[in-house]
Amino acid sequence: MHLHLDCSLSFAVVQQINPLVDYETYQRSFVGPVKCTGLADFLARTTHGIGLMQTKAELRLVTLDLFQQLKADNVIYAEIRFAPLLHLQKGLTSETVVQTVNEATSEGMATTGVEAGIILCTLRHFEEAQSMETVRLVEQFRGTNVVGFDIASDEAGFPVDQHVKAFDFAKEHALNITAHAGEARGAESVWETLRRFHPTRIGHGVRSMEDPRLMEYLKKAGIHLEVCPTSNVQTNVVDRIENHPADKIYRSGVSMSISTDARTISNTCLAHEYHAMQEMFGWEKADFFKCNLEAVEHAFISEQKKATLRETIMAAYQSK
Ligand code: ADE
Ligand code: ZN
Repeated sequence: MHLHLDCSLSFAVVQQINPLVDYETYQRSFVGPVKCTGLADFLARTTHGIGLMQTKAELRLVTLDLFQQLKADNVIYAEIRFAPLLHLQKGLTSETVVQTVNEATSEGMATTGVEAGIILCTLRHFEEAQSMETVRLVEQFRGTNVVGFDIASDEAGFPVDQHVKAFDFAKEHALNITAHAGEARGAESVWETLRRFHPTRIGHGVRSMEDPRLMEYLKKAGIHLEVCPTSNVQTNVVDRIENHPADKIYRSGVSMSISTDARTISNTCLAHEYHAMQEMFGWEKADFFKCNLEAVEHAFISEQKKATLRETIMAAYQSK
């Protein structure tokens, strides 16, 4: 449910795009340390990947490479997000960027069998016009693989005001909305995000745990939390994986699922995240099953596609 395209470049695709990058350089520049000082420090590490995603060919290769990673990770459905306005350095228009990733997503789905949707992100430090341009792209590409709108980047560093107009537009046009919050800031930021951006899902939202009233509200309103454990350790939201609130959130009854966030910057995959939940909190098959079904319920897809995914998931859990 929560996966950034521009934070998920494998060594293979980096080499394909720039053969001068050796493994050591890849590890140093494209993979982050296990622990950053905070979200801003983590975000500074995304520039190398973004730099290699500035032409149509590069965007296509990175997207197709991600599908190969997802297939190897036994993912059956992914919502892949990125900010189109970060890919204009070599003269592409934002429309061409989205069109290219959209086409590559169709190609990736056809070749791997992994189903996917695309979420377009605005960023906290963007101006109002940039957020509007991004949300208009979601509307323009509605009916393609583009399924929703998000806001990412430095939650603690920038206010919400300049993005309210874009989220109002999204709501007026009945676009699917998720928003990063409750990561670099606490429960008050989640409240603010809910009130001003009207999402049905929150990216991370793990610091909602700091306010029992908020947890009650999330449960009552059916807001889904896209929880990314390793990412939260890396961005120093949580000190160690064993102290991650994922299990407490799950036991509280708030809808949630487990995601990878920044696959290669965090050097993780879904199997690794699931393994951590099993090791740290004793999660069993029934717990992963519940989260998978919650993810499907809150996915930005048609009821028909949800039914197909549910069947696949149920058959897989029954057979093992
Ligand atoms: N962009 C990529 N990863 C992110 C995260 N964890 N929070 C906010 N923006 C991001
Ligand atoms: Zn994220």
